[in-house]
Amino acid sequence: MPVTPSANIGVVGLAVMGSNLARNLASREGNTVAVFNRSPVRTHTLTTEHPEAGFVASETYDDFVASLAKPRTAIIMVQAGKGTDAVISELVARFEPGDIIVDGGNANFHDTIRRESEISPTGVHFVGTGISGGEEGALNGPSIMPGGSVESYQTLGPILASIAAVAEGEPCVTHVGTDGAGHFVKMVHNGIEYADMQLIAEAYDLIRQGTGKSPAEIADIFAEWNTGELESYLIEITAEVLRQTDAATGQPLVDVILDEAGAKGTGAWTVQNALELGVPTSGIAEAVFARSLSSKRAQREAAVDLPGPSTEWKVADADAAAFIEDVRRALYASKIIAYSQGFDEIVAGAEQFGWDVKKGDIAKIWRAGCIIRARFLNRIADAYADDSALVALVTAPYFRDAVAGAQESWRRVVAIAAQAGIPTPAFSSSLAYYDGLRAPRLPAALIQGQRDFFGAHTYKRVDKPGVFHTLWSGDHSEIETTPSSH
Ligand code: 6PG
Repeated sequence: MPVTPSANIGVVGLAVMGSNLARNLASREGNTVAVFNRSPVRTHTLTTEHPEAGFVASETYDDFVASLAKPRTAIIMVQAGKGTDAVISELVARFEPGDIIVDGGNANFHDTIRRESEISPTGVHFVGTGISGGEEGALNGPSIMPGGSVESYQTLGPILASIAAVAEGEPCVTHVGTDGAGHFVKMVHNGIEYADMQLIAEAYDLIRQGTGKSPAEIADIFAEWNTGELESYLIEITAEVLRQTDAATGQPLVDVILDEAGAKGTGAWTVQNALELGVPTSGIAEAVFARSLSSKRAQREAAVDLPGPSTEWKVADADAAAFIEDVRRALYASKIIAYSQGFDEIVAGAEQFGWDVKKGDIAKIWRAGCIIRARFLNRIADAYADDSALVALVTAPYFRDAVAGAQESWRRVVAIAAQAGIPTPAFSSSLAYYDGLRAPRLPAALIQGQRDFFGAHTYKRVDKPGVFHTLWSGDHSEIETTPSSH
């Protein structure tokens, strides 16, 4: 029996994220959703468990493609990597010019750029799209970061807007830029997510070790913080995780979870690209490395007896409230730095790859649905709206004031952590970055002198134009020269 092209959107890959996204799409007025999974059992389970969705299910690619109305639009929700290429080639073989393939996985944006350039000669649009919000977001409203062509967004935009989270009446989706822009921005989102999580973990560790409060008591502190400027999804879930008791042992769950943090790679990509782009995303880098260190079990066991501070550190009960407030402020200041660095990477990526990314729009679509959603994203959106040429977020009036108000606390916390032997790589590196950024003069001048000494790499002077070299192995006189290529 011929299949009727009745669906305006299709989903390929029905694991949790794909199923939830398909259900979200089906729940919105005007959408008829075609679904396909390599193993038909999953398709069957989804359609029988959710008859209300009215899914158009297929067991072959031929039927799936035939069930889509033109322009055919299919969202791929499979594990990033080879699986994605396999699905793409099945669809490209059956799609026609004007049809749209959306990759909604956490693909590496370099792969997305490659795929787009391979597919575009066929006339089929390929749209790499970041989707954030985890399983719950996929079902109820994620933050969506599509790349790809402007033309494809005309068809895709309204469909994505129908399922996206809504922040202050605006759907959390925007056309981020062409080809790999969507996946690039999602990658940086994840990098910021890593930094934010690490900062929160450091705050928890300091309070726990400094005050001896229980995880449940610290959960109350985070819940309280979540009513103020730190309000965010990650702070909110932190309180819930800390409050959880393990049913088997009666212990706080956080105490029975192995302290080795996993990672699927997007944080590392953010740092790799930051290195290539020359953007100091030190907070994100430290967060990635902190996860790596946590997983080096053999090294940690070998090092566990290495000496730490000779005296034990404990905050006096009378000082506990002030210490906790210091930690809160240090967290806020460090968080501003992490987001500031992330936005710097987006700006540099946009410049390098030729994308017209609107920073304010990115801040807006991160206000709801995504993992890093936070009250202060409104402030970031405002800062870019007030000054689209803003060179560093932390210099915008609101953030300048916020950091000015927090910096004494921030310094105390980093100093106490160092004295107490508590690792705070993200707090410390964020503060070092802040101090580096605001320094009128950096010791980079000495590095230039060293480079010139051993490699004749030359230097510039503060008092006159030109490029210079000192004859270090001669009479130490200075000559004007052409710039070194090294
Ligand atoms: C999201 C998340 C999601 C996922 C990442 C990070 O935005 O919904 O970022 O994409 O949690 O894969 O996971 P790892 O911590 O495992 O790298």
